Amino acid sequence: MSFSRRQVLAGLAGVGVLGLGGTAVRYWLGRPHDLATHDYQLIAAPLDVELVAGQPSTLWAYGGQAPGVELRCRQGDRLRVRFINQLSEPTTIHWHGIRLPIDMDGVPYISQLPVRPGEHFDYDFVCPDAGSFWYHPHTASSEQLGRGLVGPLVVEEREGNAFRHERTLCLKTWAVDEQGAFMPLLVPREAARAGTRGRLATVNGQPRPVVDLPAGEVVRLRLLNVDSNITYTLNLPAAEARIYALDGNPVAPRGIPAKGLRLGPGMRVDLALRVPASGELALRDGPLRLATLRAVGAPAEASDWPAPLPANPIAEPDLQRAELLRFNFEWAASLADPADPVYWQINGKAWQSPAPGCAAQPIARLRLGGHYLFELRNLSQYLHPIHLHGMTFKVVWSDRQVIEPWYTDTYLLGKNETARIALVADNPGLWMFHCHVVDHMETGLMAAIEVA
Ligand code: C2O
Ligand code: CU
Ligand code: CU
Repeated sequence: MSFSRRQVLAGLAGVGVLGLGGTAVRYWLGRPHDLATHDYQLIAAPLDVELVAGQPSTLWAYGGQAPGVELRCRQGDRLRVRFINQLSEPTTIHWHGIRLPIDMDGVPYISQLPVRPGEHFDYDFVCPDAGSFWYHPHTASSEQLGRGLVGPLVVEEREGNAFRHERTLCLKTWAVDEQGAFMPLLVPREAARAGTRGRLATVNGQPRPVVDLPAGEVVRLRLLNVDSNITYTLNLPAAEARIYALDGNPVAPRGIPAKGLRLGPGMRVDLALRVPASGELALRDGPLRLATLRAVGAPAEASDWPAPLPANPIAEPDLQRAELLRFNFEWAASLADPADPVYWQINGKAWQSPAPGCAAQPIARLRLGGHYLFELRNLSQYLHPIHLHGMTFKVVWSDRQVIEPWYTDTYLLGKNETARIALVADNPGLWMFHCHVVDHMETGLMAAIEVA
C-alpha cells in the first residue's frame, strides 16, 4: 500500500497559535456557523493540569483538555476533523466503533502515514450509527493514551431520541504519584497479567467530582471507559437506572446487574438514570466512589422511562451459512527481547508493530459480503476486551453466560471463556482486531483481518 501526503501542509505557522488580541494560546477548537457540516479543528499538544491539587502533571491533550474535547455529529452526516499534531512525536486518530472507510481508520501504515510533529491530517467520514463512541491514537498507545489522548465522540440519533437530558462521563485512572508525576505506563510484569493499573481515578479528568443533575428528571448518562487497562465494575447503589445501549448500540432496556456492570477498556454504556427529587447518589467502581451525582433544582414531575433507542443499520449475519473461524487468545511462551517484550498472542502469533512499507500479514481473510462466526477462546485467567475495527458484530453465544444477542464493537472475554460473535464482512479493508487492554495489545495481543 502506498500513501500520499496530500493532507500535509509545510509547517503551520500562524494556524491557531494566536488568539484574539494577539495573546498566545496553545489550543483552539473551531466550529463553523453551519452546524450541519460538523467541522472541527483539533489540536493534540502537551498541557499542564493539576490532577493532584497544587501539583501540575504534564498531560497530552486533545483540544486543550484531557480527556479530550467532546466531538459531536449527527447520524448519517459527515464529520470532518482537521487534526493538527503539536506533540513532539508522530500520532494518528482512530475513531473507535465508527464504521468508516479504511483510509480514515487512523492506524499508521495500515490506513495512513503517521502525522508527524507540526503536520496535520484531515479526517472526513460519514457516521452511519448513532451512539457513544470515542477517539484515540493507534501508535505508542501506552504512552499516548496513558498521558491523556482519549476523547468522546457522540453521534446523535438521526431522528432524535426520547431523552431530554444527557451527560457524558469519561472514566480514566491516571498513573501519577502523589506529586502528580507520571509513573511507568507499562510495567512488564503487569502487562503480562491484567495490565498496569493507574492510581488516581477520575471522571472527566477530575478525581471524585460532584456532578449536578436535574432533580426528578431522567438523564441519559454516557459512560465511557477511556482507561488503558482497567475494567470498571460500575454500580449506582439505590439508584433507579436502566441500560439503554452498550458500546453505542441500543439494547432492550434492562436493569444494572446486581454484581455491577463490567465495562472493559474502550467499552461504553448508555444508562437512563432517574435522578432523585433531592439528595445524592454514588457512581462506584465496585466499592470505590468514582463520582457523586447530586440532584439540583426544583424536582421535575415524574415521567415514564424513555422509549428504547432506535436500532443502528447493521447487516444481520446469517448464522446458518456463516463460516466458522477460531481465535485463541493466550499467553506467549517466548519472552525473547526484554526491550520489546511479547507476552500475548492470537492463534500463536504476536503482532509486530506495523512499519513503513510492510503491510501486515492478516490473521484471517474474509470475503467481502461473506457471513462469519468467530469463536473467541480465552486461554488465560485475565480479561480481554476483544475489539474489531471497521465492522460491528453480534454477540451470539458464550459458555459462561446466557446471551441475549446484541451488537457491539468490543466483547469482554472473561477468564477462560469461549464466546461466539457473528458479522457480515461488509467493509473492505485491513482491520485491526485486538485486545483493548493497552498493555496486552502493546505486547502482542493484536492482529489484522482482511476483508476483500
Ligand atoms: Cu479503540 Cu484499535 O481501538
Ligand atoms: Cu477501534
Ligand atoms: Cu487482553
